Amino acid sequence: MTNLDLYAKAEHLLGIEEATEALYDLYRSELDDYNVKTLLDVGCGRGGFMERMISDGVECKGVDLSTLMVEECKAKGLDAESVDAKDVKGKYDAIVSIFDVLNFMSKEELLEFLEAMADKLNDDGIFIADINTLYGFSDVAEGTMSSDSESEFLSVDAVFENNELHTKFTLFEKGEDGRYTKYQDTIVQYFHKIQFFQKLSGLKLVDKQTFSLYDTEDKTLLIFKKR
Ligand SMILES: C[S@@+](CC[C@H](N)C(=O)[O-])C[C@H]1O[C@@H](n2cnc3c(N)ncnc32)[C@H](O)[C@@H]1O
Repeated sequence: MTNLDLYAKAEHLLGIEEATEALYDLYRSELDDYNVKTLLDVGCGRGGFMERMISDGVECKGVDLSTLMVEECKAKGLDAESVDAKDVKGKYDAIVSIFDVLNFMSKEELLEFLEAMADKLNDDGIFIADINTLYGFSDVAEGTMSSDSESEFLSVDAVFENNELHTKFTLFEKGEDGRYTKYQDTIVQYFHKIQFFQKLSGLKLVDKQTFSLYDTEDKTLLIFKKR
């Protein structure tokens, strides 16, 4: 199992449903200003945002590097694939990366990714993503928590150092025979400065809004247009 698949298994124990819904509302209201008929959701997770956009009449495709996430999307009848976003064919009116997806990429990966997304946007296309602020990493994300259900126990231990958040997930899952299986892996998230996004050749940063998802000014929404 990859670290992203472990995240997929653990996500429902993190208590982020409300924050996720709030983010979806924000993205949806931003997209309302544009005539979006086709949308690519990179890091689509369980496909909740695609489901909303489909109900608005938008044709949606999702990609996620976690095969578990993609399986769940497919079970809901969504068009999702577990491939590198750079390899997705076609062009879109809008591309989104919702809830930390850009923070999962290192500087080098992010640069390549963003330039590739510019090529996948139609003229006048829009790319929207959110990133964690330094405060979001150091004060909100860092720390430990645990959570459980009838058949699972999760502990999360996050340390922010040298502009990287290392989050160790430990999940115990009870099988039908009553025995527990232990899964453990670490996810690294990278802090990115706004200036980084102002120097892209394919995308122009047209708007940025710092807002509070959990706490004061923990996130920034970035809105790009194709250059
Ligand atoms: C915090 S989750 C958010 C999921 C979804 N966007 C939502 O709002 O519910 C981050 C997602 O990004 C995916 N991910 C991380 N790096 C990725 C990459 N380079 N390409 C595609 N998906 C990625 C993870 O597998 C995970 O599903």
